[in-house]
Amino acid sequence: MQVPPPFGQVSLEAVTANREEPALAHRLTVIGTGYLGATHAACMADLGFEVLGLDVDEEKVARLSAGDLPFYEPGLEPLLRRGLASGRLRFTSSYAEAAEFGDVHFLCVGTPQKAGEYAADLSYVNGAVDALAPLLRRPCLLVGKSTVPVGTAERLAGTLARLAPAGGDAVLAWNPEFLREGFAVQDTLHPDRIVAGLPAEQGAAEHAEKVLREVYATMLAAGVPFITADYPTSELVKVSANAFLATKISFINAMAEVCEAAHADVTKLSEALSYDDRIGGRFLGPGLGFGGGCLPKDIRAFMARAGELGADQALTFLREVDEINIRRRIRMVDLARQQLGGSFIGRTVGVLGAAFKPDSDDVRDSPALDVAASIRAQGGKVTVYDPQAMRNARRAQPSLDFADSTLSAVRGAHVVLLLTEWKVFREMDPGDLAEVVAERSILDGRNALDPELWRAAGWNYRALGRP
Ligand code: UDX
Repeated sequence: MQVPPPFGQVSLEAVTANREEPALAHRLTVIGTGYLGATHAACMADLGFEVLGLDVDEEKVARLSAGDLPFYEPGLEPLLRRGLASGRLRFTSSYAEAAEFGDVHFLCVGTPQKAGEYAADLSYVNGAVDALAPLLRRPCLLVGKSTVPVGTAERLAGTLARLAPAGGDAVLAWNPEFLREGFAVQDTLHPDRIVAGLPAEQGAAEHAEKVLREVYATMLAAGVPFITADYPTSELVKVSANAFLATKISFINAMAEVCEAAHADVTKLSEALSYDDRIGGRFLGPGLGFGGGCLPKDIRAFMARAGELGADQALTFLREVDEINIRRRIRMVDLARQQLGGSFIGRTVGVLGAAFKPDSDDVRDSPALDVAASIRAQGGKVTVYDPQAMRNARRAQPSLDFADSTLSAVRGAHVVLLLTEWKVFREMDPGDLAEVVAERSILDGRNALDPELWRAAGWNYRALGRP
């Protein structure tokens, strides 16, 4: 399990050197200032570029302009503040200002799942391009970073050609982003690879590649692979990467189901598999499965798009990947009910974790919150604590009870559920918890605790995929 670097210790050696230098040539805008956009804007300003972040949400613009990050992301707020202090980083809600300012415009808006459908909702992407394009009067590069269904870039290039007064001097490139929440700064400054989806026309492609190489010069100098491709391939790299990761997690969780039936231990199994270089241990962590704003909706949008293209058979396995993932949540609820003797009525459940993963305050499609809400709906009294996601969790699930510490969340609990493996939870002392719970019963939804330690302290310890 990787731990993100502590605050202020993000590896910035390559980028801090030029902070007093004049700004680099290209002026950048970043459209959409969520997890992706805010991180990209602050990191590019730290690399020495003048950056203007744009968001249609005025409150977000005000907070970012005041150096107040609207979400939790380790190491990002110091970078934001440094950018603002240097004068190189600003925020606006004006498309006219962005169009006038930028040589390179990064499109970083969200593409959530449509309500009631598998497909992605492209209204933010379309809205941003429709608003920006008619204002683009001088040569510029529009760089899409949002995760989109294959074919979107081609269509947006058409919109740009139709609407931009700059005509052929406004060029589109697609440059998918692979950052993980919790490691966003690290992943942005030190990516595994940079993928550039380029237009078919040779002159435009050469120009776009040259500009992108200049923008990412620091990373390229550090040896980061730079892969050029056409638009559809670049779009597919992102969704297929997420599909692979989701498949790997669901694979080990399917093995967990078999382990449960065969009284085997999936954590041992996973460890043994991990030593095979061809398999590798990353994303082979069995537990409550994947959630968040990317993996679940991206595999669903990928299936929907493949269907539109007549290639649905190729991705039917992703439906199974999704189902295995959802089954883990159901299994967790079943296990908790079993542990309580068959019913949640009149029983108290302490839930540790609400974020979809540690080091994030994001509760979108969070397995933890899903399990908590389901137990509440079945009559349990559920109290939740999460080190960072309380505000978002309260907003998403107002009917749950919330506590402000681990001990208050588990006080009087007949069973404790560990659902997000924050470091503070992994390091809890079974003795401290034993003093406040009603029953020493713990379910480890992330295989994050040491069973021997908990059993030795008198706890009934159970976990997904383990005897
Ligand atoms: C993911 C991709 O990793 C990233 O490259 C892409 O740009 C966006 O989507 P993120 O959503 O931040 O990033 O989370 P990630 O670290 O991938 O975790 C996704 C989910 O999988 C979490 O809920 C996590 O708990 C779960 N997970 C991860 C497991 O259940 N087991 C594992 O072994 C790893």
